[in-house]
Amino acid sequence: MKRPEPITEQQRKTLVAAALAARKRAHAKYSKFKVGAALLCDDGEIVTGCNVENVSYGLTICAERVAIQSAVAGGRQEFKALAVASAKAVTPCGACRQVMAEFCRDLWILLVDARKPSQVRTLQLADLLPDRFRLRD
Ligand code: THU
Repeated sequence: MKRPEPITEQQRKTLVAAALAARKRAHAKYSKFKVGAALLCDDGEIVTGCNVENVSYGLTICAERVAIQSAVAGGRQEFKALAVASAKAVTPCGACRQVMAEFCRDLWILLVDARKPSQVRTLQLADLLPDRFRLRD
């Protein structure tokens, strides 16, 4: 699949900073694993999310899905890149990958280690979710 349009260095820096800031707002009192996400929309807007846990654990929602759902609720459905900040630069879970795929054929994903934010791992949704489920092309 064709690589998505590259983002600028300035966009990359802003997005990483926004994901790190969002991580500070995480409600992760059960797992203690804070995650922040920042979504760069096609119109240049950045929409953020953090994980929001619940005492009924299954109601927890990941940072990536909070960002995507918030962007959609704000009228945005076209995305260029998503930065995710966590303690170990983890890759997004399967559920989040599928939710991303609902809106993007492909997407840059920037994985940020909150302890070493200058080292950003960049990959693509198409690599994380090959042969995705779709009803038709
Ligand atoms: N979490 C995310 O926010 N994003 C992911 O892609 C994986 C997991 C959150 C959910 C939960 O609050 C905590 O990390 C531990 O699983």
